[in-house]
Amino acid sequence: MERLQKVIASSGITSRRKAEELITAGKVFVNGEKVIDLGRKVSGNDVIVVDNVVINKEDKVYYLLNKPRNTVCSVSDEHNRKTVIDLIETDKRIYPVGRLDYDTTGILLLTNDGNLTNILTHPSNHVEKVYIAKLNRIMEIADLKKIRAGNTVDGRKCVPTHVKIKDIDKAKNTCLVEIGIIEGRNHIVKNLFAKMGYLVDKLTRIRYGFLTLEHLKSGEYRELSIKEVKKLYEYKR
Ligand code: URA
Repeated sequence: MERLQKVIASSGITSRRKAEELITAGKVFVNGEKVIDLGRKVSGNDVIVVDNVVINKEDKVYYLLNKPRNTVCSVSDEHNRKTVIDLIETDKRIYPVGRLDYDTTGILLLTNDGNLTNILTHPSNHVEKVYIAKLNRIMEIADLKKIRAGNTVDGRKCVPTHVKIKDIDKAKNTCLVEIGIIEGRNHIVKNLFAKMGYLVDKLTRIRYGFLTLEHLKSGEYRELSIKEVKKLYEYKR
């Protein structure tokens, strides 16, 4: 642990005296929290923002991937299947933030920043994840209402932030449903629908907090901007 002003100065952006002035002026944030105390000490994992700029002391990296089907959401796989890490060119030891199933596609964050991962994956910070599920039959309105009201899965209630039918294919007797979830339990979306007697044939995550896929095609990724990282830190309650 080192004094905040020393860490700021050693990042090269300013002198130690100027760093102290910035701290007392309320321009310095540690893990999203304003710090005006000159006695504050920080560790290598803390993310320090000075005048809206993240100081780069530990080379934290942040990627947003459009995960393709048939990729494993972990750093390695015992069956030698392709992992999401294989898709990203980096020499840093990154890992996925939370999990998507092997056959689930869509938005996935990867980083080596443990602090941010803890913030984003803790349910109390209310990071909403939005999915589109293709169901094996048209959803009945009574079932939609039940899912909206909240259902118990594996002994715990899950109340989605919203559920709406986006499209109905009468000829094929299928539908697309959008659902928003705060918690990050494995298979939560599939299990919620299974409870009501529906199979999820396809699942894609279209939003993670405020982040969307925008123009990323399947398998493509980009780095997050400093502004986006800072905004993700603001999820901390
Ligand atoms: N819920 C699921 O069932 N699967 C996922 O991949 C993500 C959320």
